[in-house]
Amino acid sequence: MGVNLRGRNFLKLLDFSSEEIRYLLDLSANFKNLKRCGTPHKYLEGKNVVLLFEKTSTRTRCSFEVASLDLGMGVTYVDSATSQMGKKESISDTAQVLGRLYDGIEYRGYGQDIVENLAKYAGVPVWNGLTDLFHPTQILADLLTIEEKFGRLRGLNFTYFGDARNNMGNSLMVGCAKMGINFTACSPRELFPSDELVAECRKIAAENGCSIKLTESISEGAENADVLYTDIWVSMGEPESVWETRIELLRNYQVNSAVMAMAKPDAIFMHCLPSFHDTNTVIGRQISEKFGLDEMEVSDEVFSGKQSVVFDEAENRMHTIKAVMYATLC
Ligand code: CP
Ligand code: NVA
Repeated sequence: MGVNLRGRNFLKLLDFSSEEIRYLLDLSANFKNLKRCGTPHKYLEGKNVVLLFEKTSTRTRCSFEVASLDLGMGVTYVDSATSQMGKKESISDTAQVLGRLYDGIEYRGYGQDIVENLAKYAGVPVWNGLTDLFHPTQILADLLTIEEKFGRLRGLNFTYFGDARNNMGNSLMVGCAKMGINFTACSPRELFPSDELVAECRKIAAENGCSIKLTESISEGAENADVLYTDIWVSMGEPESVWETRIELLRNYQVNSAVMAMAKPDAIFMHCLPSFHDTNTVIGRQISEKFGLDEMEVSDEVFSGKQSVVFDEAENRMHTIKAVMYATLC
C-alpha cells in the first residue's frame, strides 16, 4: 500500500510510521529539486493556510510562508499580540472559526495539548510549528540534511548535547528511533528526557535496529559520533531566572573543537538555530556581562567551521514544511 497522508495532522513524529517519514523526506528532496531548477509547483492554488504564533520565530514562519506561496496558496500570519487568540477567545473556538476559513492551520506555542486540541476542533489539517514538548517539522529538516551529507540515515551515530528533555531533545530522539539512527543524549542527569518517552523510543528503536543511550560523559557522547547536535540552553517560554542554574548544569557540555575532535573525522555539527555562539545578540551580550560567557552551547569556531551544516538545515526547513503541507492537503 502506498503512503497517503491526505487530511492528516502533523503534531508529533510519534504519530507517523518510519515509512511515512521516509515518504515525507523523499517528497522534500523532490520539492528541493523543483525549487533549485526553478520549476513552478503551484500544486495547491486556490487553497489558504493560517499560521498561528504564540512564540517568536524566524525560520518556521518564513518557511511556512515561502512554502505556501511556492505551492500557490494564500497565507495569513496571526500572532497572540494582535488577535483574540488565547486572551478573549479559547483555542477551541479559534480553531473552529479558522477551520471554516482555511484549508490548513500551523500553530507554534506552549503546551502540546494546545496543538492537539486545535487539531481536534479545526476540521482541517493542523501542523505543529513547535510546542514545549516537540518540534517535528525541524526534525524532518534535520533528517533530510543528514541524509544529504551521508547518503543514508540507518546505522549512523547521533549525539545530542544539552537540554535533552526540551522540544528538540525529545523530537530528535523520536526521529532517530523511527529512522534507525543510534541516538545518544549527552547531558547532566537532571536534563535527561522523561523515562516514559525514553521507554517508548527504546521500543521503536528496537523495531528499527538502533539504540537509545543516555550519558553524562562527554567523551562517551562524542566518541564515534557521526552527528553532534545541540540547542540553546534555555528555551522560549522558560523564565529568565533559570539561566544561572542552566549555565551551571550545561557549561561543560558546550560543543567546541575539543569535543568535535573526539567524534569521527567526517562528523558534522548541527543546530536548529537560533544559537548563542557569540555576543552579537542582546541575550548573548547580557549573558556575557552577567556570567562572563561569550559562547554558550557551541563555540563560534565550531559554529562557523567546515563541519557545521547549520544553514543547510535552515534551508531544509522550507523544503520539508512544503512537503508536509502538500502531503496533507493535496
Ligand atoms: N529552528 C527554528 O524553529 O527557528 P525559529 O524559532 O526561527 O522558527
Ligand atoms: N528549544 C528551542 C528550540 C528553538 C527552535 C526553544 O524552544 O526555544
